[in-house]
Amino acid sequence: MNVTYIDEWYVNNFGWKHNPFSFEIIPDVFVGYTKEIGDAINAIKGGEKFILLSGPTGSGKTTFLKFLIKNINERCIYLSKPPRDVKEIAKILKDKFSNFFTRLISRDLDNIYDVCNWVSKKNKGKRLLLIIDEVHEADTHMLEWLRTITDQIEGMCTILSGLPVLENILKEKLETMIKRINLTIRLSNLTYPETREMIKRRIEFVGGDDVKPFTSDAIELIYNKTNGFPRDVVRVCNEMLYKAFKSNLTTIDSSIISEEISKHVPPNITETLPDKQRTILEILNKNTELTPSEIAHYLNKEAYKSEDNAIRSINNILRRMLAEGLVERKKMGKSYKYFLPEKIKTILIER
Ligand SMILES: Nc1ncnc2c1ncn2[C@@H]1O[C@H](COP(=O)(O)OP(=O)(O)O)[C@@H](O)[C@H]1O
Ligand SMILES: [Mg+2]
Repeated sequence: MNVTYIDEWYVNNFGWKHNPFSFEIIPDVFVGYTKEIGDAINAIKGGEKFILLSGPTGSGKTTFLKFLIKNINERCIYLSKPPRDVKEIAKILKDKFSNFFTRLISRDLDNIYDVCNWVSKKNKGKRLLLIIDEVHEADTHMLEWLRTITDQIEGMCTILSGLPVLENILKEKLETMIKRINLTIRLSNLTYPETREMIKRRIEFVGGDDVKPFTSDAIELIYNKTNGFPRDVVRVCNEMLYKAFKSNLTTIDSSIISEEISKHVPPNITETLPDKQRTILEILNKNTELTPSEIAHYLNKEAYKSEDNAIRSINNILRRMLAEGLVERKKMGKSYKYFLPEKIKTILIER
């Protein structure tokens, strides 16, 4: 029996070196987000100390950062996840600036302020970009240190990248840091021309020609199915290609997209919320209407000094959730009863 493997099929039919639609991060195939890249470069060159990059998983944050690093021509440190504590930041900075001769001196620097002074001297006021991905996972103390360190080192700019929940975390727990952030870049989706460009660039990158084998109506349908959300564009293209391979079709038109290829689902809002807000949503979802003190009964009260303390904290969280449209309330005697708006209930049920 003659078996054709998918990689042979790519080569034989389209002259591709490999699959153009893998999830690999390739800065060379970066498209779109032009304004956002421009804003980031201007802020860095303009001497901003902090930049926040926010977007759901798959919106292209990591690709954006890699593209930026490749194009900005400044000294950069990229961390794919946040450092655990201040010691780890100190070590990263020392390693970046040590060479064979200074290794022994830098090794003895224990105090973080001494490390900052030493790095400042070595860096000679030039620009130093510290770029940290997945910052929503970071420890709050570490972030506080990061603010101090970035302020101490002349020329240093820190880019924090993470899920949208990072914005809430910073607002809630790190007011001093949020005050220092003048630029927040939010990534969401690409436009239709950018989506087409993304497909074309990937195909050409592996040696193909324009958007072939996709027809124009296939591209339009891909855009309609994905809203130009980068990860989904890659995924849907890959799924369509696989179906074409299975039926040995060398033209991919809209008829190949079936119901099986799912529509883009917006990220679960409960995943992007801070823990306490999420817990309150879940409690309200199970108990139609509750007052803040009733909510307190369902919460783990060990986390609070007293009952009053818990209720005060819940009231603060509820006020924020009210402003964001996550809960609604109605007056009942002296207190308010909180409940979930219809649209939030639907989202919670769908999951
Ligand atoms: N602007 C872009 N141009 C081209 N491909 C992109 C772009 N943004 C994201 N992608 C692709 O989408 C997928 C998800 O991107 P990624 O950077 O990992 O997102 P995030 O870090 O936000 O989760 C990757 O396969 C990446 O190559
Ligand atoms: Mg990422």
